Amino acid sequence: MIPREIIDEIVYRNDIEHVIGSYVTLKRAGSNLNGLCPFHSEKTPSFTVFPATKSFYCFGCGAGGDVITFVMRAENLDYADAIHNLAQRAGITIPEDETGAGERTIPRKRIYEMNLAAAKFFRDCLFNPEYGSEAMKYLAEERGLGMTTIKRFGLGFSPNNAWMLTNHMHSLGYTDEELVTGFLCGKSKKTGKTYDYYRNRVIFPIIDTLGNIVAFGGRVMDDSKPKYLNTSDTPAFKKSRHLFALNFAKNHAAEQMILCEGYMDVIALHAAGFENAVATLGTAITSEQARIFAKYTKKVIITYDSDSAGQTAADKAMRLLGEAGVDVRVLKLSGAKDPDEYIKKYGKDAFRQIVGESKSGFDYKLDKVLAAHDISIAEEKIKAANEVCAIIAGYHSGVEREIYILSAAKALGLSREVLLTDVERIRRRMKRDADAKQSRDAVMAAKNLDNHVNRDAAKHIRANAAEEAVIGLMLIYDELRAEVANGVLDLSADDFMTEFGRKVFVALCELERSEHGFSKAMLGALFSVDEMGKLEQIEQNRRKYTKNDREVLVECIRNLKEEKNKSENQDDINFWLNSKRSKAREIKNKNG
Ligand code: GTP
Ligand code: MN
Repeated sequence: MIPREIIDEIVYRNDIEHVIGSYVTLKRAGSNLNGLCPFHSEKTPSFTVFPATKSFYCFGCGAGGDVITFVMRAENLDYADAIHNLAQRAGITIPEDETGAGERTIPRKRIYEMNLAAAKFFRDCLFNPEYGSEAMKYLAEERGLGMTTIKRFGLGFSPNNAWMLTNHMHSLGYTDEELVTGFLCGKSKKTGKTYDYYRNRVIFPIIDTLGNIVAFGGRVMDDSKPKYLNTSDTPAFKKSRHLFALNFAKNHAAEQMILCEGYMDVIALHAAGFENAVATLGTAITSEQARIFAKYTKKVIITYDSDSAGQTAADKAMRLLGEAGVDVRVLKLSGAKDPDEYIKKYGKDAFRQIVGESKSGFDYKLDKVLAAHDISIAEEKIKAANEVCAIIAGYHSGVEREIYILSAAKALGLSREVLLTDVERIRRRMKRDADAKQSRDAVMAAKNLDNHVNRDAAKHIRANAAEEAVIGLMLIYDELRAEVANGVLDLSADDFMTEFGRKVFVALCELERSEHGFSKAMLGALFSVDEMGKLEQIEQNRRKYTKNDREVLVECIRNLKEEKNKSENQDDINFWLNSKRSKAREIKNKNG
């Protein structure tokens, strides 16, 4: 276990506003901050950071807790790893013998080192004619890559051999467990023996913005399947949070970036001088990736394949990037399926030209609507106008809406005023729907949280309300918690009717009586992230009451004991009733 003083220090040095602010765009609202919740999708912010209590809570989905819980959720880490992550952020070193190693999964740093060693191995194989001549020929001749590009991207080759990398990594001291966790090796289900994951593939290392090699992609050199193998998520890598070549592109991104689908597109673009190109890692863009773009650039040019899958992906990218506040343009490639092929066929100047002519997201959508309807027919024109108004209504900026209304009016041959009225009507409806949905979601989330965090709550509504009040007061007020934990106020675990309430009560009392006293930061070790959300909800609910003091606590304790008595009396009555019934049955049977 990491010592308590160090955990407190880590929490103290990681300002919650600052940490959460690096994931979520926060706006100040009085003494708190609001933003769009990173844990569920929403249009109006219900995610709140409370600097005063160093905590956060989402009224939409019920996620909540302290800075440790936030990092656990955001980075998908367990409690100990989240603490390590925060320690690193704050530049605090946890003494070696207290890191809790052995209890935890393999540390990130170890995986980075391992990946670096593997990348060197793959590169050496590519440059060693004994193994790599065919791969080198493929990259240079078939894919047209120069030596500078091959070296710059650290490309490599995995020989057609099941144990070459495994043996090499073993010789460097990496264990099977580490190799399998890092997706460098697979493990045979039958024999339990490890083997090289990548065989006979050209290797693309994926490097984060700090220069760590976080993952690999490996492509076959012919038409066999699967075309690519990629590292799945590891303790050091989540593919939804990385972009291929961002390590280079971030330095050329201020004005605009180019988003493509494939590794090879990015490499071809960089080689042709478009060093602001990146790609997602074989998946559709996520909202996390959209926020990465927003961090580095103002404008993203999307260049997805012209097939229907590419178009769907482009629509999603447009939406997510738009929501992240990035200006989006769409590049239409004609005569080639992707940027790689386009540049090979028509050259980089032609590509630069079409980048310059790329259409705004709106023009692209307008073209699509116009192409789908013959607007010389009245009904079709009405449909087209409705679709266009719905698209325009989706833009948050009034200036943007005005500009698009003007261009739509021109394209459809309708007046600006007519379109404006329709757009405004749709917006009012959208707002009503969104508000209704959000409050529905909030009610559902609270219910869900209760259902799986505190199953007994629904059975014991009155008792649960009293329990939550007691817990809330104990969380907020040090002196009240001390009185309860030290027996000044008479309340024990047996008085609680819900299992969750009892568990929280016991944890609060034990922490209070522990050597170092109570610390909220320690709760994350005892409760799941969902339970932490519930605790935060209980505390925030409690804080809304104007009268919160010892008197209220005493009254709640009285209510709780009353409920408990009632249920025990009810138990007695039930017992008595049951025994009478069975006696009656006995008599009936005897006489029957
Ligand atoms: P080339 O075909 O060599 O030009 O590669 P590309 O990078 O252009 O690939 P493509 O456009 O077919 O696919 C785009 C991206 O999707 C790739 O860069 C990979 O990240 C991913 N991808 C493609 N095929 C597979 C596959 O079979 N498995 C996985 N996991 N990902 C794939
Ligand atoms: Mn391609």
